[in-house]
Amino acid sequence: MREAFTVDKANFFIENNKNKVDEKYRHHYHVMAPIGWVNDPNGFVYFQGEYHLFYQYYPYDSCWGPMHWGHTKSRDLIHWEELPVALAPDKPYDKDGCFSGSAIEKDGKLYLMYTGHVEKNDRTYQTQCIAFSEDGIHFEKLCQNPVIDEKILNTNGTIHDFRDPKVFLRNEKYYSVVASKNEEDKGRILLFESKDMLNWSFTSILLEGDATQGIMWECPDLFHLNGKDVLIMSPIQIPKKGDEYHNISSTVAFIGLVNWETGKFSVENYHEIDFGFDFYAPQTLEDNQSRRIMIAWMQMWDRTLPTHDLAHGWAGAMSLPRELSVKDNQLIQKPITFVYDSLNITQAIHALTVSSNTITFDNSVGDNMYMRLLIDMTEADELTIQLAKVGESSLQMHYDCQTQKFILNREKIGYKLEGREQELLVQRQTQVSLIDGQLEVELFRDTSSVEIFLNKQKTMSTTFYEIIKGKNLEISSSGIAKIITLEFGQIKT
Ligand code: FRU
Repeated sequence: MREAFTVDKANFFIENNKNKVDEKYRHHYHVMAPIGWVNDPNGFVYFQGEYHLFYQYYPYDSCWGPMHWGHTKSRDLIHWEELPVALAPDKPYDKDGCFSGSAIEKDGKLYLMYTGHVEKNDRTYQTQCIAFSEDGIHFEKLCQNPVIDEKILNTNGTIHDFRDPKVFLRNEKYYSVVASKNEEDKGRILLFESKDMLNWSFTSILLEGDATQGIMWECPDLFHLNGKDVLIMSPIQIPKKGDEYHNISSTVAFIGLVNWETGKFSVENYHEIDFGFDFYAPQTLEDNQSRRIMIAWMQMWDRTLPTHDLAHGWAGAMSLPRELSVKDNQLIQKPITFVYDSLNITQAIHALTVSSNTITFDNSVGDNMYMRLLIDMTEADELTIQLAKVGESSLQMHYDCQTQKFILNREKIGYKLEGREQELLVQRQTQVSLIDGQLEVELFRDTSSVEIFLNKQKTMSTTFYEIIKGKNLEISSSGIAKIITLEFGQIKT
């Protein structure tokens, strides 16, 4: 018999072992656990003047195991305070894991809605459960759990894949979107409703996928923004389509409108959310300034994890929080504005021409590095940026004016990162239209990651684990590219 998991046992273990973690690849301003494995963000919520973030957590090893909920909070989404573990798999209905879910405030209390995961005779059984807290730190599970079980699910989905409830309030009613699938392995998002968070009933099948949209959908989130409804989710094995969906699992935004009479989502457009290698299971909140903010797991399932392989004692981190908007049926992300309060610009260059020469910026690349490049490409054909360059090693970025594609390549930097994709995935690209002939590349680097924001249209997120630290940045072009502004800075932590 396995030894029982409890919150106390997890907290005791963390306290006594966290100083054993190897710091080499640890981030400075991205959320990580003190020790152990992290995947999806959970329960992202603005509660009593602070941002709370929970996450899928296995403290005892740097690989996935029976899921707990880790917990951290922040006032600015950049500086985080570690809190005790919130949930452990300690009940019969969640004995093999407290899987992903969300949080909501009700009558001054913080409620978590999560998936109870149970394994029996080689099959998984998933139901939806609730825990609540008066102080936002210590949680008690409801004695009525599970609140959505096989009976309520009925034939609307399968109990074997039924998870990741995202709860929200609309017109004085609680709703929850939950992921499942149909008999033909097509993703399905189910909608449930409740007046009191305790008694739930099935409302509708909100949206169902087709064969080109993956074999199961995970981690749905539904919100209204700029006059549209947005359903974000993470399909498993959505097939490649042009430049989209090259990772084994992807994140997608469906944009359209919900008909609340029928409980159906009518899709007007959908697209991949991030065009890098490491971005999964995003979740959003709305804060007191009505900002819709998204955070994701900055990692991908089934990839080489150097911090695990090298026995560094930890694995996984969250993305930089991003503020969302919808424009022309596209989901637009910008870095959370708080990050600029912690930004110290150390160097600003104006009016510099790059022609056939290569310009090297020595020592401009560091762990918490920020870069913003605004460049006029009217007379240029191509632009190449090499980040963290040392010898042959660098993270490569490339823009082609003809195709208007931005390419990110991590083949030449650090450890080889293999995954379950059919071929080794080292390069991704996406369309970025020039604006008045200009390209803006805004880049946030933390120790082992880079997140790139392109012309306020697209984002690319990637992890990398350098073997030798590269400190230089090189820019070269074919044709004449005119740097309008190039800023380097540091995120202060
Ligand atoms: C997504 C996911 C969820 C599940 C959790 C388990 O990454 O597979 O569907 O709840 O991770 O850790």
